[in-house]
Amino acid sequence: MKNYLTALYLIFAVSCSSIDQKSVISPDSSIRLNFQVSNGVPFYSVKKNNKVIVEESLLGIILKNNLDFSSGLKIDNISSSSHSSQWTPQFGEQSIIENTYNELSVSLTKDDLKMKIFFRVFDDGVAFRYEIPNQDKITSYDIIDEKTHFNLSSEDKAWWIPAFSYRRYEFLHAHSSIDSISKKYFSEHVEDISYDTLGIDAAHTPFTLKKKNEYYVSIHEANLVNYSSMTIAPMGDGKLEVELYPWSDGTKVKLKSKILSPWRTIQIADNSSDLLLSNMIINLNDDPDVDSDFSWVKPGKYMGVWWEMIGTNESTWWPSPYHGANNEKVKNYIDFASKHKFDGLLVEGWNTGWHPEWCCSGDGNPFSFTKTQNDFNLTMLSKYAMDKGIRLVGHHETGGQINNYENQLDDAFTLYKKNGIKFIKTGYVNDVSRNIKRIDENGNISYEWHHGQYMIDHQQRVIEKAAEYQISIIKHEPIKDTGLRRKYPNFISREGAKGQEFNGFSSNGVNHITILPFTRMLSGPMDYTPGIFKLNNFRYVSPDNKLIDKGAIIPSTITKELALYVILYSPMQMAADLPKHYMDHPEAFEFIKNIPVDWSSKKILNSEVGNHLVVARKSKDSENWYVGGITNENEKSVTVDFKFLTEGKSYNLKVFLDGGDTHWRNNPMEYRIFNKEVNSNSEIQIKMAQGGGFAMEIILLD
Ligand code: NOJ
Repeated sequence: MKNYLTALYLIFAVSCSSIDQKSVISPDSSIRLNFQVSNGVPFYSVKKNNKVIVEESLLGIILKNNLDFSSGLKIDNISSSSHSSQWTPQFGEQSIIENTYNELSVSLTKDDLKMKIFFRVFDDGVAFRYEIPNQDKITSYDIIDEKTHFNLSSEDKAWWIPAFSYRRYEFLHAHSSIDSISKKYFSEHVEDISYDTLGIDAAHTPFTLKKKNEYYVSIHEANLVNYSSMTIAPMGDGKLEVELYPWSDGTKVKLKSKILSPWRTIQIADNSSDLLLSNMIINLNDDPDVDSDFSWVKPGKYMGVWWEMIGTNESTWWPSPYHGANNEKVKNYIDFASKHKFDGLLVEGWNTGWHPEWCCSGDGNPFSFTKTQNDFNLTMLSKYAMDKGIRLVGHHETGGQINNYENQLDDAFTLYKKNGIKFIKTGYVNDVSRNIKRIDENGNISYEWHHGQYMIDHQQRVIEKAAEYQISIIKHEPIKDTGLRRKYPNFISREGAKGQEFNGFSSNGVNHITILPFTRMLSGPMDYTPGIFKLNNFRYVSPDNKLIDKGAIIPSTITKELALYVILYSPMQMAADLPKHYMDHPEAFEFIKNIPVDWSSKKILNSEVGNHLVVARKSKDSENWYVGGITNENEKSVTVDFKFLTEGKSYNLKVFLDGGDTHWRNNPMEYRIFNKEVNSNSEIQIKMAQGGGFAMEIILLD
């Protein structure tokens, strides 16, 4: 990645009504952030086009030893600057990203202690972060509390998932007044988590809301390192406060020296479509270090010996007559994936440590990351794959046993590197999310939150170590994305929400996927694992009882599964179903084979959160476009206007659309295909069935 316009720093006008109040506006003048210190207390507020987005809200940090940086403060100095540049991600959703903002940098003092707050105001939102530099008078930089508030309105309605809860980020979304955020509300209206008494009532970020004044807002954080995950907790009357995940001893963040917090971000958009165009989070992250080289990281598509364990339930990860990762089966998958030009084949259950009760306690029999099961020959299979032009994708399910994993990291990466493996899917299944066992230098054991600083530091160690071995990571049960993929392109994708797998062993319901793009996906790419073609009668009761589980239904249609390759961006994209199910629908499978994973631009053609979404993307290395549309439980007609195509050129359009009787529950696998010549003046009406979608491939004609 590189900046190819040098940053332009200018002093620009800040309005100043008194020494204690400053405001900074966005480059397009639509957003105004106001900062003030009133009776020693710092506040900020945000407006867009003079309409309130965030009312006056507290700022501040409290350190150990009662060092309170949220009161008794004075402004020492304020400076402002403008920045405008463009940068080119190595791969991504756009070939060029604009990064333009105005910045206010405020130096504050409390007696002779110093703190800084940086504010950046972009056209698509505002961000701020705290810095407490090294100074003699501070004996501990440990953070006891962060005082950031977001004062919204009780009338603002949010899409949210509970934090401090059992299953990490893997929940459906509630849609309610922000005052309703609670486990009780969630249990009564969304999913029953009444058994969950793990922690306080709060919501994870990205936290997306529609304000009564019609603006769309999403609160999140950027560049989360050396800190703990931020959640937001309701205080009543439309007010929210930051709650950081604590360590087991109650400290929120432990630091040996100066504090530089992640950015607190508030993305603001006129409508739901514009929200999806914001690049603020990734713009608030750093480029890779100048002496680093990530040219070896390549996006791609992969299949997996996976769905047959988690979805169709015919195989096991552990040794059994039904063990999935056996030499013969893996070879068959390699043959198929290579014939259809995939880049990789994930193989889960290749190593020792798997047993029927492997899941979810965070303790017990540890996994080995170097010892293979008896019927899996890593050297032979990785060579077999490479001879056929593809690579195995490695798998490290840690079960949340961090010490066990870290002790083996070098050996595990060495083994995979030796075998030409370039991607590893990692996993941290430990369902009680306050249950990550930590063993300190003295052998003392404590149990940490999945989202706390211990895990953030662990994630950092893994990603940096993987880069040393030129390995890219697809992380499941991750920490949320805060844009680190910019500095570490090898952090190529991650899960971090209810993905397709939940449709395998339970159900996400039909509307979940129409909310994800406006919440989880605002943070970054997702390894959702789309492309299931056998949507009913697919699951066995158990590996040794091959009766069909009639109740198992994927709430989707084949057209919607295709659309997800356009809707849900991931540079490493999976075709998750079994080869034989793809062979039942060869033309639809061609769409998955053809679709790129690297894009030069995207357009949001139509959207409403929780209702429908239509996205168009242009391939990075051709003039071809792809369009995906999805709807919720209701059928929906949309007009696709092709004005995004280059004027004067003709294209062949191939459309996969739901049939007249298609329905996600009753008839999900029926679809029609038609071809048509189109140009930038064309328009087409498309009808999506209940729970359905459509997908388009648009190829430039000579
Ligand atoms: C949970 C992951 O999300 C899933 O993809 C994986 O198969 C299992 N853990 C086992 O590692």
